[in-house]
Amino acid sequence: TFSDAEKAAIVSMWGKVAGQADVIGAEALERLFLSFPQTKTYFSHFNLKHGSPDLLKHGGKVVNALGNAAGHLDDLSGALSVLSDLHAFQLRVDPGNFRLLSHSIQVTLAAHFTSEFTPVAQSAWDKFLAAVSEILVSKYR
Ligand code: HEM
Repeated sequence: TFSDAEKAAIVSMWGKVAGQADVIGAEALERLFLSFPQTKTYFSHFNLKHGSPDLLKHGGKVVNALGNAAGHLDDLSGALSVLSDLHAFQLRVDPGNFRLLSHSIQVTLAAHFTSEFTPVAQSAWDKFLAAVSEILVSKYR
């Protein structure tokens, strides 16, 4: 569960991201693939070149899913149920990769929204991304 201050920090940062979800998402993915090259194996069917339409489209999907989650902080499991099924049953992404993506997302937010990325915002987003990740890996068996 999130405190009121954490909720406010998550929702307000989302407000900054919302209008450029695809660009922010693509950058987070690019940071993921460059920093942790093993993560590219899940995306062998994508064009992973800088600025590619695949990166922008998928980046937008990932970040908009976070936006949807940010709108349902009191029911993250419900909001992420379909995505949780997808990652566990079909994609079978190694659970360890969620930490890596969460890190890349935070670095991207820090790089773009310097003044908003306060200690409170950082710890709230860290907690939020960990909570989202926990739900996306919760159905693995
Ligand atoms: C697909 C969100 C973590 C690999 C997706 C989709 C979304 C999403 C919204 C598209 C679903 C659809 O088309 O219906 C997220 C979120 C994550 C996360 C919010 C964590 C914050 C990861 C990680 C990996 C991964 C860590 C692997 C490194 C994939 C793959 C697809 C996918 C391979 C299918 C791509 C395609 O072929 O179109 N994810 N994801 N995801 N995700 Fe994730």
